[in-house]
Amino acid sequence: MAKITASVYTSHVPAIGVAIDGGKTAEPYWAPLFAGYEPSKQWIEANRPDVVFLVYNDHATAFNLDLIPTFAIGTGAEFAVADEGWGPRPVPKVVGHPELASHIAQSVIQDDFDLTLVNRMEVDHGLTVPLSLMFGQPEAWPCKVIPFAVNVVQYPVPSGARCFALGQAIRRAVESFDDNLNVQIWGTGGMSHQLQGARAGLINADWDNRFLDRLIADPAGLSKVPHIHYVREAGSEGIELVMWLIARGAMADVAGGPAPTLKHRFYHVPASNTAVGHLILENNV
Ligand code: DHB
Ligand code: FE
Repeated sequence: MAKITASVYTSHVPAIGVAIDGGKTAEPYWAPLFAGYEPSKQWIEANRPDVVFLVYNDHATAFNLDLIPTFAIGTGAEFAVADEGWGPRPVPKVVGHPELASHIAQSVIQDDFDLTLVNRMEVDHGLTVPLSLMFGQPEAWPCKVIPFAVNVVQYPVPSGARCFALGQAIRRAVESFDDNLNVQIWGTGGMSHQLQGARAGLINADWDNRFLDRLIADPAGLSKVPHIHYVREAGSEGIELVMWLIARGAMADVAGGPAPTLKHRFYHVPASNTAVGHLILENNV
C-alpha cells in the first residue's frame, strides 16, 4: 500500500528561484530566508519520498484564459521546465509517476471530484521553486513528482472547504494503490502578498501566523474561511493559500487518525513582495 508519510507547505516566490540559480543565497537579503530551509533539507534527506504529490498553481504558463481547469493532475511521464520570460530555470526536468497519477485520477473522479487530466504541460515557478527550496540543486530531482495544478488565478476559484475535502479523497486514493510507495503531499503558494493595484506590497504577518496555527491545529475550522477573508486580509494573491488545505486534508488525523507531528515551522518577511511561510508535518501512521 502507498502511504502519505508527511505534508510540506511552502511559498513559491520566483525571485527565490533566481537567487538559487544565480548563486545569491548567501547575500544578506537572502541568507535569513535560506537559513529557514536548512532544517528542511536535512529532514528530507532523512525522509526521502518516492513520490511528491505537489499541489501548486500555474501562473498563466501552461494554462491561460483560453483554458482554465480548476484542478488538473499531471499524468504524464515527464514535465519540462517552462520559460517564464528569462529562459527556463536551470533545474532538472520533472519526472512523473503516470501509474500512481492515473490511479489517483480514477479514484478521485469516482469520488466525485472532477479533475482535468494533463499528459503534457510545462511547469513554472509554482512547482520548481518549492522543489529547489527542499532539495537544493541536484543533477536530477531525487524523486518522482505528480504535478497537481489548482486554479487560484482566474475567478471563480475553489473554496477552502472543497480543497480540504479533495485532500481527503487524495489520501483515500493513495492508500488504495498497491505498490509500497512513500508519498509526500506538498501544498504551495502564499502567504500574504498582493502584486498589483492600490494595495500592492501588502503583508499581514498576524493573519499569516494565525493561518499557520490553525492549519496545524484546526484545519477543518480553517477550511471554512471564505475567499473574501483571504483577499481582504492576505491580499489578492493570498488566495494561493487555499492550496495548503489540499495537503492538510490528506493527513491522517482528518480521517480520525493520530495528529501529525510538527517537524518544522518558519516564517520570513519579505521575499520579493511575499511573506514566506513553511511547515513540515509528519504523519504518525
Ligand atoms: C511573487 C510572488 C508570487 O506568488 C508569484 O507567483 C509571483 C511573484 C513576488 O512576490 O514577487
Ligand atoms: Fe504565485
